[in-house]
Amino acid sequence: MKIAILGRGQVGQTLGSAWSASHDVVFGSRTPNSDGERSMSEAASWADVVVLTTPSSAVTAEFIGSLPLSGKIVVDATNPIKADFSGVDPDGPNVGALAPDARVVKAFNSIGVDLMANPRFPDGNAALLVASDDEEAKATVIALGEEIGFEGVDAGGWSAFRNLENAAWLWISLSMKHGRGIGFKFMTR
Ligand SMILES: NC(=O)c1ccc[n+]([C@@H]2O[C@H](COP(=O)([O-])OP(=O)(O)OC[C@H]3O[C@@H](n4cnc5c(N)ncnc54)[C@H](OP(=O)(O)O)[C@@H]3O)[C@@H](O)[C@H]2O)c1
Repeated sequence: MKIAILGRGQVGQTLGSAWSASHDVVFGSRTPNSDGERSMSEAASWADVVVLTTPSSAVTAEFIGSLPLSGKIVVDATNPIKADFSGVDPDGPNVGALAPDARVVKAFNSIGVDLMANPRFPDGNAALLVASDDEEAKATVIALGEEIGFEGVDAGGWSAFRNLENAAWLWISLSMKHGRGIGFKFMTR
């Protein structure tokens, strides 16, 4: 699969390096260097799956509108955490609305980057909450998560995206008390 990671920060580099073992991964950057990086737009144009790992403040209508995302699976891993670090901004960007022609999936946002490098725990694999209206795209993203050690959990349609952002805030709050080596576990019976 051809995966473009937009934003070569902590999350982008961690997911990119995890997937590069079995996929073609390209980084899209505002300032591409000579190390195989492309512009954000070039990377998105090349890819089957585009992963947004920029700050939420960068996810504007202008930025999303500048990217060739039509028909592509777009994974939104961003969180609009308020500037005063008091919670999730309820007016943060809605990527599903900004990219109506894309197959938008919310995922990889509700756990810390440390976990993305290794989501395996002695009692099982950490849950990866995934939301989308596109069932096929959701299944693809769940498979991408399970490849790197998560247990994919279908969290519903795209309208659940804010729930997943609030789950990220819960993870952040818990990590301040218990450290960043924590994950959510999903149990059913
Ligand atoms: N850190 C975590 O544990 C974690 C976990 C889950 C989700 N998230 C979410 O994932 C996103 C990235 O987090 P991060 O920790 O990886 O952040 P980060 O290390 O600051 O990386 C963000 C990257 O986005 C790009 N970027 C910065 N400003 C931009 C702008 N104005 N326009 C376009 N691109 C810009 C930069 O890459 P270039 O310089 O290459 O363009 C930067 O390296 C955030 O929305 C965060 O809420 C973070």
